[in-house]
Amino acid sequence: MKKIGILTSGGDCQALNATMRGVAKGLFYNLDKVEIYGFLEGYKGLMYGNYKKMTEKDFSGVLTRGGTILGTSRQPFKQMRVIENGFDKVKAMKDTYKKLGLDCLVVLGGNGSLKTANLLSEEGLNVIGLPKTIDNDIWGTDMTFGFQSAVEIATNAIDCIHTTAESHGRVFVVELMGHKVGWVTLHAGIAGGADVILIPEIPYDIKVIAKKLKEREKAGKSFSIIAVAEGAIAKETAELPKKERKEKLAKSIYPSAAYEIAAQITEMTGQEVRVTVPGHTQRGGSPCPYDRVLSSRLGAMGAKLIQEEDYGKLVVVRNDDVVAIPLSESAGKLKYVNPKDDIVESARMIGISFGDK
Ligand code: F6P
Repeated sequence: MKKIGILTSGGDCQALNATMRGVAKGLFYNLDKVEIYGFLEGYKGLMYGNYKKMTEKDFSGVLTRGGTILGTSRQPFKQMRVIENGFDKVKAMKDTYKKLGLDCLVVLGGNGSLKTANLLSEEGLNVIGLPKTIDNDIWGTDMTFGFQSAVEIATNAIDCIHTTAESHGRVFVVELMGHKVGWVTLHAGIAGGADVILIPEIPYDIKVIAKKLKEREKAGKSFSIIAVAEGAIAKETAELPKKERKEKLAKSIYPSAAYEIAAQITEMTGQEVRVTVPGHTQRGGSPCPYDRVLSSRLGAMGAKLIQEEDYGKLVVVRNDDVVAIPLSESAGKLKYVNPKDDIVESARMIGISFGDK
């Protein structure tokens, strides 16, 4: 008999239910007796003992369902060791785990959530991590679940903007998710045929962007599309020491990066500019077929690790194989876009500007 706890933590994404279904099906199908406890609203459920015992039926019909049937919340890793009003979060989580007599806790989470998963593993709990996030920034895996679904939505947004931009001869700045990394913007930008792609890893020079837009205008192209990541940053800002940089960004009069860029290029080019922000639609709706397959594979591997009692692992994709690496190997590291990556070079080759040169 195995008793398994499961939770979804941090920002949601499209294939959380599909991944939980993969784990549950793998367990129910291969183990004689298994009990699954679903913690509500992420680590909060584990801290406060809010859970529900789940049956096979709970995981039925959820392959295509977006969001998470368990609910989620952000519980910052930085706060985990902080005792608040006498409440010790780590102790509380360990107590719930022990009280239920769990054999393993399965965490579907992004970077912060996986750091906490690693912390709990170091505290002696048996933990398995599954790489969730639309940002695709978890170190150690080629792919996270949620990413391809988000890229589809972001690409669709650019596609829709393309037709209206062309009709009106306007410049559109489309802001996509990614505060620290630019994977969604890079992929959706290329897939949507953006003329300029701005990501946090490649600081931009606004003059270079304006020049590109003017060149297009001169060449008879009356419209342009700029795909901007939330965390895109100007060269002069990126060069500031961390504290000054933070202060400068906090003082900005613009709601986000896209609005500042739009205001600057309006002034510099005289072109008509509009901003579109698809926002959380990028995390919503059904997982795309790629993510459904990926989640089923990741979930199945999670179940296999439990069956083999091989704990303290993060399930990852490497060269299209699903394998497991120690949680500690990935925890605390981000997978950034390398400006020298082949995908960036290819985009430059076909005339896409990254606003840097
Ligand atoms: O981490 C995923 C992510 O979607 C980021 O790309 C985005 O910046 C952030 O979450 C938004 O977070 P929230 O759900 O707190 O608005």
